This record gives sequence, C-alpha cells and structure tokens, in this order.
Amino acid sequence: MAEPHESRVYSDLAHFYDKVFGRAFVDHEHEVIESLPFRPGQRGLEVGVGTGISLDAYPPYLQVTGIDPSAKMLAQAIAKTRENGWSHIELKSGDAQQLEFADNSFDWVLSFHVMTVVPEPRRMMAEMVRVCRPGGRIVVISHFASPNPILYFLGRVVNPITKLLGWTTRLRARDVLEGQPITVERNDRFSRLSVHYCIIARKAGPDA
Ligand SMILES: C[S@@+](CC[C@H](N)C(=O)[O-])C[C@H]1O[C@@H](n2cnc3c(N)ncnc32)[C@H](O)[C@@H]1O
Repeated sequence: MAEPHESRVYSDLAHFYDKVFGRAFVDHEHEVIESLPFRPGQRGLEVGVGTGISLDAYPPYLQVTGIDPSAKMLAQAIAKTRENGWSHIELKSGDAQQLEFADNSFDWVLSFHVMTVVPEPRRMMAEMVRVCRPGGRIVVISHFASPNPILYFLGRVVNPITKLLGWTTRLRARDVLEGQPITVERNDRFSRLSVHYCIIARKAGPDA
C-alpha cells in the first residue's frame, strides 16, 4: 500500500499559492462549478482542496467536504471558510489515494489540479469513483499529456523539471479513465491553446 503523499512544494508555497497558481486556476474552476446542476441537500467532496480557491463558487445548499494532506494549504482554506461563515463547508486532512469515506457517499466528487500531483493517479480516480454514488458525477480539471505525439514527447522532455515543481506532464487522461465503471460525458480542453482538461463522468448505476 502506498504511503499517504503530501507534496512539499505546495506546503512550502501555501502563503503564495493564491497569487501564483491560484490566479491561473481560479476562473476555470469557478466556471465549471457554476455550470453544474447541484440540487439542494446533495453532498459534494472536493479532493485536494488546497487553499480553497474554488470554495466560494459552491452554492450554500450543497454540503461540501474538502480534504487535503497539507496542513498549511488547508489552514488557508479553513481561514477563508471561517471569515465567510460558510457553514455548508467542512474541511479536513485526507489522502486522495485512500479516502476515508464509505462507498457511494457523495453525489459529486470533484478534484482540480491534483491528479498529476499524486504518485498513484489511477488509484486516486478509483477512490473518487468508489465514494461517488451510482448515477453521481466525478468532475476533474487537470493538465494531461497531449494525445499529439510531438507535444507528448515535449511533455516527457520537461517532465524532470515539472516533477521538481510538484507535478508530472506524462499522465494521459486515458491512463486514469480506462477500466473505471464510469461514462465520460465531457473530456475537453478549455480552449485550443489550453493545456488544462475538464472531465465530467457519470458513475454507472441508476440516478437517485
Ligand atoms: C496544484 S494544488 C491544487 C489545489 C486546489 N485544488 C486548487 O485548484 O487550487 C495541488 C494540491 O494537491 C494536494 N495534494 C498533494 N498530494 C495529495 C494527496 N495525496 N491527496 C490529496 N491532495 C493532495 C496538495 O497539498 C495541493 O493542495
């Protein structure tokens, strides 16, 4: 069994994260969250919630749980939640590769810019699917390696550098999607030049 993983890079960067990475990620996260048809009383899990740049996009009628292994990242998210009085949001320590929730616990399981950070992304996806209820949705925003062979090769070349920064450029979307009991409903980039994909998948089974 793999060790729980906490990327040191993000802990070290926690105080600067929102200004450095957060600025690049926040608009797409909000755009996607605001497009989702959440219903009152539903439960959502955000895996690798970090400093909580996504949190203000969730509607107050969705019960949101956010997990992250980095105490320093999580402290920023907790501060945002307290300052804003978001009683619908609960934050705690946790590992994407070993989620401490029962099977079928959430209507929505979301993760933004974490899949390429963890050592075992396929196991992370399997865990996200496990805790999602049948008919629920898994929502992922992430960089993935390009299906274009030249860009894929370039990604491999820069991978040793990005690994130092905390993520891999070698992971392909199909590496994490294949073999899961899901139907992929969306798998596209935000624009032709974007390196970030949005994947929305429905877990097999009847809608509640
Ligand atoms: C690029 S940041 C993304 C944070 C946030 N989702 C966002 O969009 O701003 C990557 C996050 O993954 C978290 N992380 C690293 N290893 C993890 C693991 N095993 N399980 C869950 N989160 C993890 C890091 O602590 C960090 O908060």
